[in-house]
Amino acid sequence: MQYETCSNYNSLRATFDAALQKQQNLVIQAGSLHDPIQSFAESVCEGLEKQPRQLECRFLYDAHGSKLYEKICSQPEYYLTKTEAQILQQYAGEISRETGSCHLIELGSGSSVKTDYLLSAYQTRYTNVCYTPIDISSTALKLAGRAIIDKRPDVQVVGIHGTYNDSFQLLSCASPAMIIFLGSTIGNFNEEEEHEFWQDISQHMKVGDYFLLGVDLVKDVSILEAAYNDAAGVTADFTRNYFARMNRELGSAIDLAHIKHVAFFNPVKNRIEIYIKFSRAQKIHIESLHRTFYVAKEEMLQIEISRKFHVSAVKDHLNSYGFKPVKTYTDAKNWFGLILFRKSR
Ligand code: AVJ
Repeated sequence: MQYETCSNYNSLRATFDAALQKQQNLVIQAGSLHDPIQSFAESVCEGLEKQPRQLECRFLYDAHGSKLYEKICSQPEYYLTKTEAQILQQYAGEISRETGSCHLIELGSGSSVKTDYLLSAYQTRYTNVCYTPIDISSTALKLAGRAIIDKRPDVQVVGIHGTYNDSFQLLSCASPAMIIFLGSTIGNFNEEEEHEFWQDISQHMKVGDYFLLGVDLVKDVSILEAAYNDAAGVTADFTRNYFARMNRELGSAIDLAHIKHVAFFNPVKNRIEIYIKFSRAQKIHIESLHRTFYVAKEEMLQIEISRKFHVSAVKDHLNSYGFKPVKTYTDAKNWFGLILFRKSR
């Protein structure tokens, strides 16, 4: 798997286009990730300045964090990934019939394990299947790319190591396409961020392109809370790794023995909220930006939100961005929804 670095959007687009023409397998690094430690430091300082303090959850996924997330997915309480995988396994064939042959583009692809059901279905039905995974973890991207090429040598893989925003400009060269956004990752955005996301992506998609969206559905609070407080403590390790990463990359010297993972359902906002609670006062110094913050004893820092949805509300909402629902697939318990949309205007 070759790896190429691009410094700006024009070269990213040209490299992407050329790889598609040449049917080459490639991972392309977008310019936005050129100075990851500096971007991390800036994001942390911005988050620590807010009141209440609030960090950006995308930085949970460094190499170690991506591994921990894979481990979360196999915990018995964490039903999301398994349920979504079952739905995909059952309906991938039908989805591939609905959309016809198209370029598969996946946002936040991670290990790409679930996507393999789709790759298999598209490969069965169509020739020249092209897959573009997009992820901020280069490790996850390279491993996933390698695994797909080994298992499915006929699928072309052109991965983007970058943020979702980096990929928007590429959508027009990939049409007809289906954008795949699984795992209810959309739930990590608050309403405002979600609005920006749909606005941007719908502007770059062409009429007739598809969007396959995975959403975790509102259900019994005890099931939701258990999923984010697994008995083995893997989710707690995942949250704490944020601070371990800060120590490793930013030299912040946070006492990891005195921070605690806290996750609960907020019924007013229909979302799981994940925090780190400091059991002692803590000084956080970010040397590269010459900033120092003082976190109080018992203070809680928000790390992530995970919103839960109703299928009908999601469909209504996306209508305003020009998406028409084609079909909804769910599991027997109605715990998770996979909604196929078509861009109609
Ligand atoms: C990656 C967004 C699907 O919100 O359920 C899992 C992340 N955080 N446990 C989710 C997560 C803690 C996860 N997603």
